[in-house]
Amino acid sequence: MSSAAAQAEAQAEAQGRPNVARMYDYFLGGCHNFAPDRAAADRVLEILPETRGAAQANRHFLHRAVRHAAQRGIRQFLDIGAGLPTQGNVHEIVRAVDPGARVVYVDNDEVAVAYAGELLTETDGVVVVRGDLRRPDELLAHPAVRATLDLTAPVAVLLAAVLHFVPDTDDPYGAVAGLRDACAPGSHLVLSHLTVDDVPPDMVQQGEAIYRSSSAPLVPRTHADTLRFFTGYDLVEPGLVWLADWRPDHGAHPVVSHSYGAVGIRR
Ligand SMILES: C[S@@+](CC[C@H](N)C(=O)[O-])C[C@H]1O[C@@H](n2cnc3c(N)ncnc32)[C@H](O)[C@@H]1O
Repeated sequence: MSSAAAQAEAQAEAQGRPNVARMYDYFLGGCHNFAPDRAAADRVLEILPETRGAAQANRHFLHRAVRHAAQRGIRQFLDIGAGLPTQGNVHEIVRAVDPGARVVYVDNDEVAVAYAGELLTETDGVVVVRGDLRRPDELLAHPAVRATLDLTAPVAVLLAAVLHFVPDTDDPYGAVAGLRDACAPGSHLVLSHLTVDDVPPDMVQQGEAIYRSSSAPLVPRTHADTLRFFTGYDLVEPGLVWLADWRPDHGAHPVVSHSYGAVGIRR
């Protein structure tokens, strides 16, 4: 482990507060999580035992969606709320299609950024920056983002399982619109989002209470409210659907994800 990653980890552990990036890492079976993260995640699993499968379904959706974008000729990817490195990172998936694809990973969690940076220090055309989805102008003005991405050509913006940590009071629709307006026509938006359309209200309240004591609140949205993020985009088939239903691989099994996903193409 690099000293930067070790330092970030020690500081985060000292805070003692569950962190949404590390809870997700735990759901995925990763090892970049601490006791408070695991305790909070275990409480989520008591309410919704299918959460591990849902996290996997989200990763699989992301893989299929970025492969689709790469196969359609997208060569630049901006992954916001990228999370901790895991199996099948975005640059590995898209570089299997085009070894020259460029990827910028962004997260507002310092531990996620430190570990991703450690993994990728030697990888040309792949960078990791600390940035916040809620401040898209600042994020896009980051020197490493400007040096890596050409915003006059189409980009795939990835917002996988991140917008449900941004409450309406922080204007997530404005942030997504800001990203859209900065991108060239033909750019893609890959988005997945937690919903409670299929979860009983008492379970929703229990889940939200757990996340209230974590690094970010949980803000599930309805199908209609998730669809609004795609204003200015044409959705590719099959539209905004349960994650497992978005262009499933041959032989895939249905999985409960409590999340919708879609890919849009900017008009
Ligand atoms: C559930 S993980 C999703 C990781 C990855 N995108 C995926 O789908 O597998 C959510 C990530 O979003 C990050 N995040 C939450 N709010 C954010 C914000 N406002 N700006 C940037 N990243 C954020 C968290 O730190 C965490 O790493």
